[in-house]
Amino acid sequence: MNGVRPWRSLRVRLIASVVLVEVIMLSLLVWHNLGVIREAHADRLHDTATSMLQQITATAGSYLVEVDYASLEEYLRNIARHPELAYLVVTDRNGHTALSQGNPPAGPAPTPDAHPLAADDGRYDVQADIVFGDRPMGRVLMGLSLAQMEQAIADARDRSIAIAGAEIVLSILVTVLIGVHLTRRLGRLARAAQQVGAGDYDTEVPTGPADEVGMTAAAFNRMVKEVSQRTRRLQEALARERVIEETAIDGMITYGEDTRIRSSNPAMCELFGFDGQALSGQPASLLLDGEPDPGFWTRPTGRRREARGRRRDGSVFPLEVYVGRVEIHGEPLYAATLHDITERKQAETECKTLLEGNRFLIHKSLAVQEEERRHLARELHDELGQCMTAIQADAELIRETAGRDNPRIAASAGAILDISSRMYDAVHAMMRRLRPTVLDDLGLVAALEEAIGDWRARHPGIACELVTHGPLDDLGESVNISLYRIVQECLTNVARHAQADRVHIELMADGEIRLEVRDNGRGLEPGRPRRRGLGLLGIRERVEALGGRLEIDSTPGEGTCVKVSLPGKHPPQTGGRERP
Ligand SMILES: Nc1ncnc2c1ncn2[C@@H]1O[C@H](COP(=O)(O)OP(=O)(O)OP(=O)(O)O)[C@@H](O)[C@H]1O
Ligand SMILES: [Mg+2]
Repeated sequence: MNGVRPWRSLRVRLIASVVLVEVIMLSLLVWHNLGVIREAHADRLHDTATSMLQQITATAGSYLVEVDYASLEEYLRNIARHPELAYLVVTDRNGHTALSQGNPPAGPAPTPDAHPLAADDGRYDVQADIVFGDRPMGRVLMGLSLAQMEQAIADARDRSIAIAGAEIVLSILVTVLIGVHLTRRLGRLARAAQQVGAGDYDTEVPTGPADEVGMTAAAFNRMVKEVSQRTRRLQEALARERVIEETAIDGMITYGEDTRIRSSNPAMCELFGFDGQALSGQPASLLLDGEPDPGFWTRPTGRRREARGRRRDGSVFPLEVYVGRVEIHGEPLYAATLHDITERKQAETECKTLLEGNRFLIHKSLAVQEEERRHLARELHDELGQCMTAIQADAELIRETAGRDNPRIAASAGAILDISSRMYDAVHAMMRRLRPTVLDDLGLVAALEEAIGDWRARHPGIACELVTHGPLDDLGESVNISLYRIVQECLTNVARHAQADRVHIELMADGEIRLEVRDNGRGLEPGRPRRRGLGLLGIRERVEALGGRLEIDSTPGEGTCVKVSLPGKHPPQTGGRERP
């Protein structure tokens, strides 16, 4: 098996374990069996010796009494044929050898053995007294050879060992067969796991029989498939991320809680003038000019924050930073996007300058417009007024001269007087609208009251009230004329569009100057494009030219409220006057 040392191989260990257990068990068995056999043979030998002694002692006494040694010899010869008998000696009562068979040991009579297993000289020595009646007649000494017993035990041992050996070989064979089959499949699994580890996710192992290994193989195949799909998705996500990072025009960095940079994209290096990986390990604060607030890099706000970036060469530029945070295995990881907003800032500055210029121009053009209106009113007054006065004087003269003599001429002169008087009124009204002199003479509140009075007269069905608070006498000419024109336009709109029966005008100076014109008409219709009128646009331009704010609140069916606030130069003041 690839990469597995032989002694660590499952197959080798399995076989070695089986062989070891077999050898131990069979050795114990053989050892036990040999002990049993030995005891059985020893007992048999003991019994044989005892029985032979009993026979001889029972028979030999009578022969010894009669001193019939020939018959005794004949009798003993039959017994001496026993294959295990080593020697047989019969002594008389004096201890002299009467008869001897076999090979008795030379010298003194051997000490009898208690049991064949106690014999240490290869022979089982036994003795018994020969008694006839109550008289001792002699002694029988007998030795039985242990060779046959030992041979039988040796044969039994050899057979047991042969059987045990065969059993061991058989066990090894069976174990090897099972082991080979098993370990081959496990080996395939191990090799497949190595291939998967090396990145080959197309690997599949045959499952084979539906046993534990088969089930493991099936589970392995499922797991590899799942890992393959997840790895592919992960690789795609990483590739996408890499492409985004590498092609992004914004700088991107990641860092941990210690705010030391872990990764940066090419745009980041380009933006700050660093090479390749030079930013890795640096503190993120290195990228900013001055000391940002302590949680700048680790407190995501969910919105972009402006800061001042510092390049490697020390140059400073405006920056927009967005910080995001994720947790990976309980550890926070931050990602920040850094966007160079130099161009935007320049555009903003240019825009601001243009806006200010625009405001100035509007202011100027409104002032010119008012001046023109004033001029026109003066011309109308001076030229047309004097002409009208001259016409009236002439007509008066004609009427007086014609008198009663010429009533038709007198009537015509009267008609001219009448028409010129109406013309004079019309021109006067025109002059007042062009330039409300009361504004110059009596101030804003009086001018508004006069204008509202005229408007009420023209629209008797709409109740209109004016409420003022605070000091409104010294707001300046441009503020006065703007507020006057705004009220004029709002009232015109109410009359033209609102279908209201009530208008409430509130003007106050409490630090800033605020004007509200609220009607209870139909309101602005949402979604419907407004007619391209100039009234509201003009109001907005006037308000912006004075650096103020305009708001138009409207709910369909519940009226419209035009709110204007202008920066004021007067301190707030309490109390107010109401003019119905
Ligand atoms: N008080 C109001 N109630 C309901 N609708 C209004 C009111 N004021 C303005 N509008 C709506 O807003 C539109 C734009 O008003 P704006 O004063 O700018 O133009 P206009 O009055 O139509 O024309 P212009 O003022 O140039 O003579 C109006 O046409 C009207 O539909
Ligand atoms: Mg209008």
